[in-house]
Amino acid sequence: MLAEVDALEREGRGPITVEVVDRLALGIERLSQSSPFDAVLLDLGLPDTEGIGGVLTLSAVAPEVPVVVMSGLDDGEIAVRAVHEGAQDYLVKGRTDSELLRRALRYAIERKQVEVERLRLLEREQEARAAAEAALRTRDQVLGTVSHDLRTPIAAIGLYAKALQASAHQAESIEVQAQRIEKAARDGLAMIQELLDVARLGMGQGIDIELRRVNLAALAREAVDEQEQNAPEHVMHFSAPGEVWGIWDGPRIKRVAANLLSNATKYSAPGSRVWVQVESGLRGGERVATLTVRDEGLGIPEADVPRIFDWYQRASNVGERKGTGIGLSGSLRIVQLHGGTIEVKTREGKGSSFAVHLPIRE
Ligand SMILES: Nc1ncnc2c1ncn2[C@@H]1O[C@H](COP(=O)(O)OP(=O)(O)OP(=O)(O)O)[C@@H](O)[C@H]1O
Ligand SMILES: [Mg+2]
Repeated sequence: MLAEVDALEREGRGPITVEVVDRLALGIERLSQSSPFDAVLLDLGLPDTEGIGGVLTLSAVAPEVPVVVMSGLDDGEIAVRAVHEGAQDYLVKGRTDSELLRRALRYAIERKQVEVERLRLLEREQEARAAAEAALRTRDQVLGTVSHDLRTPIAAIGLYAKALQASAHQAESIEVQAQRIEKAARDGLAMIQELLDVARLGMGQGIDIELRRVNLAALAREAVDEQEQNAPEHVMHFSAPGEVWGIWDGPRIKRVAANLLSNATKYSAPGSRVWVQVESGLRGGERVATLTVRDEGLGIPEADVPRIFDWYQRASNVGERKGTGIGLSGSLRIVQLHGGTIEVKTREGKGSSFAVHLPIRE
């Protein structure tokens, strides 16, 4: 046992407990067994290690434990290399009293703490940077998709305006063209409004919903009619018991319906059926209107279901189908702002059903 360590133990000043082993392998075994040691005092002359090998092994096995190297008089160069390789300090055997040893250990522990903290900060910074880069990539993707989609109504406006000029002498045609222009402008505005909502909701900010008396059945019917134009190859079945009135934000709830319908057609084969149902009833003693959109498409893998309402998240089975993963996230927030919920039932390969429950307040 080293004389200096002996002295340290004998003095017993302060709460220092010293444990001595005579081989590196034993030291490593102890380090991995018990509660963390504050520091390791490493003799460079142990029988099972050579040169700075011990320092390298220790920093690999216990990277957070500071190491102070004890070297012989003529190992000065090795000791310096040991410090380069991660040891906190070195002391020369026979030239070290317990006071020096105590101080070296204390500084080593402090230096190591600073180093570990710095590494943690660096890691956190790298994680934050990776997250920011991912967010930027996603934003670019979203911007790309939205600007692509926005081109459709704007191009339609241009097209119909041209047709209008060409047919200026036919009154009936003028009306039809003007209606189409109006619809294209409405679609474009709705997309921009959705984008603004998503930007605000995605940043955790609120949006002002505009409550009015709305007939959910009529609104869902409109959404179905529009989706039939976008996906004419699907077979839509609509059912409602008549009118279902409540106090909601009509345009935003229509957008929720449009998102569910767009998903039902996007994630199912052309020619397959989509059922849309509006009904009202009691849930937990409360009057509730329910809009259900059901398809016989891909379904969602069980493991992915909890994620699909998170921003930018998509299931693993989407294949080549384009999407940004914001439709459902935005829809859920809007439904929640109405005090409602969305209930999902899905089976991979069989189909999905999304039910939006909205409290009826008149
Ligand atoms: N009816 C459905 N059938 C199968 N998978 C669905 C269905 N609806 C949603 N999903 C899954 O949930 C994910 C999230 O849907 P969401 O509508 O938020 O995003 P998206 O359709 O990918 O893109 P977008 O933002 O353009 O709507 C989808 O990517 C898809 O994996
Ligand atoms: Mg979608």
